[in-house]
Amino acid sequence: MTTPIKVPKDRLMAETKLAALRARMVEAEGAYYQDDDPILSDADYDHLRAEVVAIEAAFPDLVTEDSPTQTVGAAPAGGFAKVTHARPMLSLSNAFEDQDVVDFFERVRRFLSLSDSDPVDLTCEPKIDGLSAAITYENGEFKLGATRGDGAVGENITANLATLMDVPKVLAGSDVPEVLEVRGEVYMAKADFAAMNEALEAEGKKVFANPRNAAAGSLRQLDPSITASRPLKFFAYSLGQVTGGDVGASHWELLEKLAGWGFVTNPLNRLCGSPDEVLAYYHDIEERRAALPYDIDGVVYKVNRFDYQGRMGQVSRSPRWATAHKFPAERAITVLNEITLQVGRTGALTPVANLEPVTVGGVVVSRATLHNEDELDRKDIRAGDTVVIQRAGDVIPQVVEVLLDKRPDDSAKFEFPDACPVCGSPAERPEGEAKHRCTGDLICDAQAVRRLQHFISRDALDIDGFGAKNVEQFHGFGWISTPADIFRLVEREDEIAKLEGWGDTSAAKLSAAINARRVIPLDRLLFGLGIRQVGQNTAKLLARRYETAEALFAQFDRVAEGDEAAQTDLLDIDGIGPSVVDDIGRFFANEDNRAAVDDLLAQVEVEAVQAPTIDENSTLAGKTVVFTGTLTQMSRAEAKARAEALGAKVSGSVSKKTDLVVIGLDAGSKAKKAAELELETMDEDQWIAFLG
Ligand code: IVH
Repeated sequence: MTTPIKVPKDRLMAETKLAALRARMVEAEGAYYQDDDPILSDADYDHLRAEVVAIEAAFPDLVTEDSPTQTVGAAPAGGFAKVTHARPMLSLSNAFEDQDVVDFFERVRRFLSLSDSDPVDLTCEPKIDGLSAAITYENGEFKLGATRGDGAVGENITANLATLMDVPKVLAGSDVPEVLEVRGEVYMAKADFAAMNEALEAEGKKVFANPRNAAAGSLRQLDPSITASRPLKFFAYSLGQVTGGDVGASHWELLEKLAGWGFVTNPLNRLCGSPDEVLAYYHDIEERRAALPYDIDGVVYKVNRFDYQGRMGQVSRSPRWATAHKFPAERAITVLNEITLQVGRTGALTPVANLEPVTVGGVVVSRATLHNEDELDRKDIRAGDTVVIQRAGDVIPQVVEVLLDKRPDDSAKFEFPDACPVCGSPAERPEGEAKHRCTGDLICDAQAVRRLQHFISRDALDIDGFGAKNVEQFHGFGWISTPADIFRLVEREDEIAKLEGWGDTSAAKLSAAINARRVIPLDRLLFGLGIRQVGQNTAKLLARRYETAEALFAQFDRVAEGDEAAQTDLLDIDGIGPSVVDDIGRFFANEDNRAAVDDLLAQVEVEAVQAPTIDENSTLAGKTVVFTGTLTQMSRAEAKARAEALGAKVSGSVSKKTDLVVIGLDAGSKAKKAAELELETMDEDQWIAFLG
């Protein structure tokens, strides 16, 4: 039931679409690999990638070296030393349908010019949903451990990998190659994940969304003792570099050797000789998926014979001799008991389906998002309906379909109320917006609680031992209604100590944790305020531009007063558009908000954010650069990063103050304005040449 892939016929259309899709892929990969915080389900990501691949196949000249289809994963995050992989860590092509598997067998035969009677064996393995790692042994001794990173360069996580029981420190047996790099998947078992989250929650710490994120977060700790305390496991499934030794003639032999050397290999691995056998394996594993002790997202097929693998080689960044057969998103049928509205931090009303609890892929689901009124109308979802729900990867469960033949006769459409269900203030759907909003702002308890929860969340204040439930409770007591009140909680330590589940020690710990956050970086503070559209990234951009709280808020006050120069100054920051400026203006024009910010500033010491250091010798040092039009050889994000690395300030609009305009394809008004103002310009080739 996936959306069909559409390839534009027109080259220009294809190019434009490709740029947008690639940008989305890069964003999704960054969120997945670097932030451990996916923004797309696996199925959506795969679909996105398939779309890019299809367009690139139709227009091969549009394939660029930096296309996400040509690179694997994302570049390593800061903090660990880099490791260049002796052999790149490849990724896998995907198969979705049974027919894709039949085609894969065919391709293998054709590529190797085998006749129908020549046997082709595939090793079939569960595809573990964890993170791949490469572990190097010299003369049987554990020497180096690395993450995949972007496939070419990873991070040195030797100390962390050394803490895993499944990673032998000395290899067993007498036939170990001199240098042996073993690759495999680091993962967390479902039960261990649940227990760990429970413990984290009890300590008031933030929990992880799923076992994969938990494994990633645990593995990439700068302090290996934290990794050691986390229940990580490792399945070995392939090799990197090998010198001086025998690793067998086939993948199956290798798996046996790996087990002999002391690694854990998956007991469900099988050798299959025909599409029928392979598909039986796939469907068998799919059926057992929920009962397996760890998450998997498909199965992997590998041509067994190493000589065949060698002949087949790779295409782009995946081997021709292997493919991953993904499972479809998991679905279940249940009854939708009631539709309720959830009030968000900014007053957005989100309809939520309250479901008869049902297990989807091993997880009990009792709520699903219904997004907004249009979505409700489009799918005509009603209370009492029997619905198909889907849980794909990490995303919130969704209702995909209503089984209309099971609809009760007396069912009625859901009517959006004209008042907020929590505070009773008028609820409106502003023109051009998809969501209804409660207009109660500061008087709405639901909004207040959500805002405070946002203020203390992981990416904002991040107070140890203080979670969303505490906020709700303390707000209910009337102890906290604005961010500054959180800091005044230290004056209530005695009262808190008397609450059920607390006590002197935990109350004192909470005070200490709150006090520890009295020094706070400007971008976190700004993000924590929860201004509409001011997410982490925007907060960073603004904090970098104005550096201190005084300068930043003074500027916002001017924006709120309608000062055009101040608005333009904000708009000059690349990545800040007019609607963000409007939202900032609206927030600061509200006297209660302004007073709450002042009140907060009296409680904290704000750390100025350093603007990135400028290389004084660079030709772009201190210059303002604008990119316009479509760049074909590097993404806009990369172009911007390269310019900034050379000390430039990248702006979103062309003015007299602009020093350089880089003009890509189909540039419009900005290129025209650059010509009018007689500014220095470059086309993309000149820009690439300039970067050298
Ligand atoms: S083989 C060239 N085997 O899937 C071979 N990968 O999409 C590359 N994965 O990066 C890997 N289970 O993180 C292989 N049994 C398995 C796997 C597996 C999980 C992951 C691995 C890899 C990704 C490729």
